[in-house]
Amino acid sequence: MSSETETVTITDNTTGKQVTLPMYTPTAGPKVIDIGKLYKELGYFTYDPGFMSTASCSSAITFLDGGRGVLQYRGYPIEQLAEQSSYLEVCFLLLNNRLPKKEELDYFINTVTQHTMLHEAMIRFFSGFRRDAHPMAIMVGCVGALAAFYHDHMDIHNEEHRMITAYRLIAKMPTIAAMSYRYANGKPFVYPRNSLSYTENFLYMMFSMPSEEYTPDPLLAKALDLIMILHADHEQNASTSTVRLAGSSDANPFAAVASGIAALWGPAHGGANEAVVRMLIDINESGKPLQTFVDRAKDKNDSFRLMGFGHRVYKNYDPRARLIREICHKLLNDMEASSEQQKLLDTAMALEQVALHDDYFVERNLYPNVDFYSGIIFLAMGIPMNMFTVIFAMARTIGWISQWSEMMSDHEAKIGRPRQLYTGAIDLDYLPIEKR
Ligand code: CMC
Repeated sequence: MSSETETVTITDNTTGKQVTLPMYTPTAGPKVIDIGKLYKELGYFTYDPGFMSTASCSSAITFLDGGRGVLQYRGYPIEQLAEQSSYLEVCFLLLNNRLPKKEELDYFINTVTQHTMLHEAMIRFFSGFRRDAHPMAIMVGCVGALAAFYHDHMDIHNEEHRMITAYRLIAKMPTIAAMSYRYANGKPFVYPRNSLSYTENFLYMMFSMPSEEYTPDPLLAKALDLIMILHADHEQNASTSTVRLAGSSDANPFAAVASGIAALWGPAHGGANEAVVRMLIDINESGKPLQTFVDRAKDKNDSFRLMGFGHRVYKNYDPRARLIREICHKLLNDMEASSEQQKLLDTAMALEQVALHDDYFVERNLYPNVDFYSGIIFLAMGIPMNMFTVIFAMARTIGWISQWSEMMSDHEAKIGRPRQLYTGAIDLDYLPIEKR
């Protein structure tokens, strides 16, 4: 953030009082008016449901320009990272604000790998869940439960402790995710195998059987690694803002991340990848023309929306969606996908074309987002639909913990405490129950 040179003056037209507010110039993106003293000077709050115009914090982690469809982690374009980097290298980058040297990356990978096991007592948590529990519910519970194992000896104001927290979370999320799946399917838990790469290990814990040899498919491991890079961070989205808000009270970071997982679960956020595939299957099964579904999405009396379309910030093609569409094509080609999987991709691409040529979508700048094609890839990998958002959570963990750590080292950070526009009753007199 540049030092303040510009100001904005606001005049109260009723009283004639004025307040001059500082305006900051970020390294990229729109200028930001600091309204911190507005209430003190004029006695007013600002009102911005959904944070349409509000920067809730300053951050040097992720930049996105929704108008141009640009996404960068620590200044590096997502396209370059997707092509040349790996998920764990991106984790290092997000946490440390620079790319690692070879020996630093080796050390980082080795350290993460040392933390993949769960405390044995944690494993008993799973059996408390119903077999048909959604794996996201299990994940919220189990990640929150990690707070019980790492609390008393953790100093969240100590940078080194924060880094250990990051190692633990990056390492344990795949283990928890895979165990959620195994539990729901009545399959034995598979402990991590540290000789495998990060994503190979996840596939191994998901799909191997103690009774049989299993070698993770390098093609799938590579595709998953790419998807993880594309989901790693996305500045102040709903789940990240939730983690920051929960963490702003100095709460345990595992508990704060559990709150982020809860926020991610909704279909307007990370739950959309599951909703997209359900929608595509419904479309295929209905046999109705695609325009029927596009018309329903436009109908304000119908709650149906085109899932995987639209974004609060992107008013252009989501760069992640473009990359994921490419991965999807390549993977389905390389692995000789079933006709069913190919049909889902064909329907998705045809639906995209119908929507992109429809005035309603054009006028509102509604384009496919990151969730539009990712589910088709997950399905092709053999991952069941209710696990899609779990994988999103696994990938986004690094974003949450990097943003939390940045907040903890920010001297301007305060406990998050929004104000409100109160519209309820006031000064009522309590009536005893017999008189109401
Ligand atoms: N289908 C039909 N209409 C839509 C859609 C859609 N998918 N998305 C937005 N609109 C319309 C909306 O009805 C509104 O129209 P009008 O101006 O006439 O009232 C206009 O476009 C603006 O939409 P909004 O809901 O005010 O925009 P928002 O920024 O509050 O919501 C969104 C963004 C992502 C929640 C929304 O686009 C949506 O619900 N999309 C479908 C769910 C989805 O794909 N979510 C994943 C988001 S990306 C990954 C992530 O965040 O995890």
